[in-house]
Amino acid sequence: MISVIGSGRVGATTAAFLMMNEVDNNIAIVDIIEGLPQGEALDLNHAAAIMGKDVKVAGSNSYEAIKGSDIVIITAGLARKPGMTREELAAKNAQIVFDVADKVKQYAPNSIVIITTNPLDVMVAVLYKRLGFPRNRVIGFSGVLDSRRMAYYASQYLNISPSAITPLVLGQHGENMYPVPELSFVYGKSLKSFLTDEQYNKVVKDTINAGADITNLRKFSSNWGPGAGLTVMAEAIKRDRKIALEASVLLDGEYGIKGYFAEVPIIIGKNGVEKIIEVDLSSEQKEKLMKSIDAIKNNLKQVPEEYIR
Ligand code: 2OP
Repeated sequence: MISVIGSGRVGATTAAFLMMNEVDNNIAIVDIIEGLPQGEALDLNHAAAIMGKDVKVAGSNSYEAIKGSDIVIITAGLARKPGMTREELAAKNAQIVFDVADKVKQYAPNSIVIITTNPLDVMVAVLYKRLGFPRNRVIGFSGVLDSRRMAYYASQYLNISPSAITPLVLGQHGENMYPVPELSFVYGKSLKSFLTDEQYNKVVKDTINAGADITNLRKFSSNWGPGAGLTVMAEAIKRDRKIALEASVLLDGEYGIKGYFAEVPIIIGKNGVEKIIEVDLSSEQKEKLMKSIDAIKNNLKQVPEEYIR
């Protein structure tokens, strides 16, 4: 069973994609708002009946509904409003994640947990601390989003499929993320070599601003990209695909970083994080990554100490 905590736009979209792809025959949606998860579940069950998908979606206000889940996807939390930074959300969402972690621990103690709540790098640390699960079972979403967004933007200049590109974005999910087109490839050829300087800068800028651009345009934050990324991750775990993608994981010496969650490439399979891929970086690239990690360290200061230490 796969559980989705939070039935806002990201939660509902994720549940829909999970159903459409029949990633699991049982999906549970939990939200504190009365009637909302039940209504989403009913609508999705109708959609499944129409599409011929043998999937049951259950909606509940009680965390008991997640009992026995092998994957729990946490989308709960307040979303960014236009002009609001991810960081401003920190204090409010930390409390929510803290409480959700207790329920996950109680009802799905063996699950692999993926979280999307922003600011991501902080919330995944709060979650990890509170859950006490091993690091392979606590995964921060968004690396897959940021990296594939970069592939998308670059693909527009190259006139190729985004899937032809293996993109690399490191560090923070936020204004200080570090997109690295020079270490992104089309087969063995660096993405940088396909782009003019102007295009290169635009790809980097668009990747960093992607989430904010969506929010500014339509006045609410992304849901399709997150829903798609979460579905790909859940499917990789469920089917033990051992594919390579990016996620925020706890680093324990990899990249010279210890004790912080950051976006890096991983292999994802039935154990969650199967492997962390350590890309060789030049000293200049290491410096840029460290700047991004410094931003994560600063963000961690925005939540009360007891949440993360
Ligand atoms: C995004 O990047 C909201 O963080 C989310 O779209």
